[in-house]
Order: sequence, then structure tokens, then C-alpha cells
Amino acid sequence: MLYLVTGTAGFIGFHTAQHLLQKGHEVVGIDSFVPYYDVKLKERRHDILAQHQGFTPYVIDLADVGAVTDVFSKGSPQRIIHLAAQAGVRYSLEFPETYISSNIVGTFNLLEQVRKRKIEHFLFASTSSAYGASTDYPFRETIPADTPLTIYSATKRGGEHMCHSYANLWGQPCTAFRFFSVYGPWGRPDMALFKFTDNILKGLPIDVYNYGNMVRDFTYVEDIVKAVVALSDAIPQAGKAVGPFDSISPVAPYRLVNIGNATPVQLNTFIAEIERATGRKAIKNLMPMQPGDVEMNSADTTLLQALTGFKPSVPVSQGIDEFVRWFRDYYNV
Ligand SMILES: NC(=O)c1ccc[n+]([C@@H]2O[C@H](COP(=O)([O-])OP(=O)(O)OC[C@H]3O[C@@H](n4cnc5c(N)ncnc54)[C@H](O)[C@@H]3O)[C@@H](O)[C@H]2O)c1
Repeated sequence: MLYLVTGTAGFIGFHTAQHLLQKGHEVVGIDSFVPYYDVKLKERRHDILAQHQGFTPYVIDLADVGAVTDVFSKGSPQRIIHLAAQAGVRYSLEFPETYISSNIVGTFNLLEQVRKRKIEHFLFASTSSAYGASTDYPFRETIPADTPLTIYSATKRGGEHMCHSYANLWGQPCTAFRFFSVYGPWGRPDMALFKFTDNILKGLPIDVYNYGNMVRDFTYVEDIVKAVVALSDAIPQAGKAVGPFDSISPVAPYRLVNIGNATPVQLNTFIAEIERATGRKAIKNLMPMQPGDVEMNSADTTLLQALTGFKPSVPVSQGIDEFVRWFRDYYNV
């Protein structure tokens, strides 16, 4: 099958494309190598994907309508997994315009191409932060998500709404998934696990927000990929629910699905696992909560399991071991 995956030089896009290529699928990959973090890491990921014959990369900005049109003029994929985005909470306070350009304009440009062709399934990466200020744990897809706390979550919620409108107007089947705190090898340098491991190995202090009183549903990247690929076979049909917990739209072939580990972990436990895996003690710099952040996220994955029979299960102890092994090897430390 021919998949178009966006964000293939990114953390999750790289793993997703690699998984599909290893299964014998063809992948057209789009990424603009945004210099939000180390571009060398992105190049290395694409180099690995380029070892597969079935990989065709395009280094283009999704906000460039002409470039996006060009890619589609060369052929239509059967399925699209749209992972490219400007992510990050802190960065969104300083550079909000990049979120509009990548997450709103980029997603719109893709959807416009899709509607002209109508493909089998459009899958869109959203985030647990779409639940905003909600404290109705564990988050179920059917609870209201109308209190975004950052421009990042607002643009992701906007992306979900754009997908619903295209599903409604053009009958384009679309699944939006909300990822919960993804981590693993080849991970993002701006995220906690990467920063903590790096500083702990260098003997430098780590910034621990909200004095460590945070809880996250850390989800291993391999589980995320398995769930995404399984969901690509679960093509939504308007109003056809798999249970009372289904988020399926009554009017459009669109649904929202959480992808999380459903096992929330205290930040201090997470740090203790990194200490164990590295064999070093962390020097903790206890800090107040960052603006736009939340104390807890926690996924209800009943819908994911009903649709795919799959439940993420890698415990943080195992996932952190895998990450630390990769980190030491990659950076030779
Ligand atoms: N990592 C997580 O914990 C997490 C949690 C929730 C949601 N998500 C979502 O999952 C997706 C993948 O996240 P990730 O962690 O792999 O992030 P990432 O930053 O590693 O990957 C995103 C990729 O998209 C590319 N990109 C950004 N804007 C682009 C544009 N305009 N045109 C083309 N390419 C562009 C970047 O260069 C990058 O390589 C994102 O949509 C993100 O919002 C991630």
C-alpha cells in the first residue's frame, strides 16, 4: 500500500515510516526539517529511512501550497498519516506564528489536496493537551475539550475540527488521534526524558516543574506506532459506533481516538527510573509549574481497544532502558 506520512524526519514520523517500510509498504515522506531542534538528528532519521527502496522523501514546507500540490501531482497515496507539526508548549509562548503556519495552514493545504482526490483514510495527529483544563480523569474522547491552554493545543483542536468539516463536506474518512506523552529512542531533544538523561549523564541539574508533582501517561513510541497503523485499518463510518464510548460523529466519517498507556506515572518515579537506567543520581532544580502546562494527563483507551484489539503496554522501566541505551550509543556517552 502507498502511504503518505508527514513529519518523517521527526520522532514519531520516523518510527511510523520505518515500521511501514519494514512491513513492505511504500512511503512518501514529507518534512521541512524545521530547525526547532537539532537538524542533524532529523537528517540521520531520514538517512535511515532512505535505506529502504520504498521511501520517497520530499523536503517541503506544508504551508507552501505550490509544493504540496506538486507532491500530489505525482500520484495519490491510499492513506495519509499526518504527523508533521510544530510541537512544544514553552516554544508556543515565544513563536506562536509557527503553530499557525505549520499546524493550521499546513493541515489545511493537505486537506485541500485530499478532498480533490478522496483517499481511503486520512489520519491526523492531535494531542492529549487538547483536553486543556479538564480534570475529568482518565480522559475519554467524548468529554468536552473546549479549554485549550496554549496556542499549540488550540491549533491541534482546530486541526481536529478542520478534519471533521472535510469529513462532513466531502465524505473523507478521517481519524484524529490524541497522543499522550510519547517517549523512546530517537526522541525529541526538547522533551523531558531527553533533557533529563543528557543532564544526568553530564552531572548537571535538571529542571523539575511543579516541584515534581506532575503525572503523565508516558507512552512508548513503538506502542504509538502499532496503534496508529492498526487504526489506519479502522476506517470510520458516520454514525456507526462500536459502543457507547465511541466518539464517532453522527454526521461524518470522523472519530477521535486516544493513544496512551493508560498507566499514569508520577514525574518523580519517572526520574527515579532514569537514575536507575543511567546509574547516576539526578540533581533536581525544583521549579514552579510552567505557564500553559497541566498537572496530569491520563488516557482512557477503551475506544482504541474496541477498534483495534490493541492496548499500549510497554512499562516506563523498559521504555527508559531502551531510550538510555539508544542515547548512550548515539552520543557515545
Ligand atoms: N511527542 C509527543 O509526546 C506528542 C504528544 C502529542 C502529540 N504529538 C504530535 O505528534 C506529531 C509528531 O510529533 P513528534 O514528537 O514526532 O514531533 P517532531 O517535532 O519530532 O516531528 C514533527 C516533524 O514535523 C516537521 N514539520 C513541522 N512543520 C512542518 C511543515 N510546515 N512542513 C513540513 N514539515 C514540518 C518537523 O520538521 C518535524 O520533523 C505532532 O503532530 C505532535 O503535535 C506528539
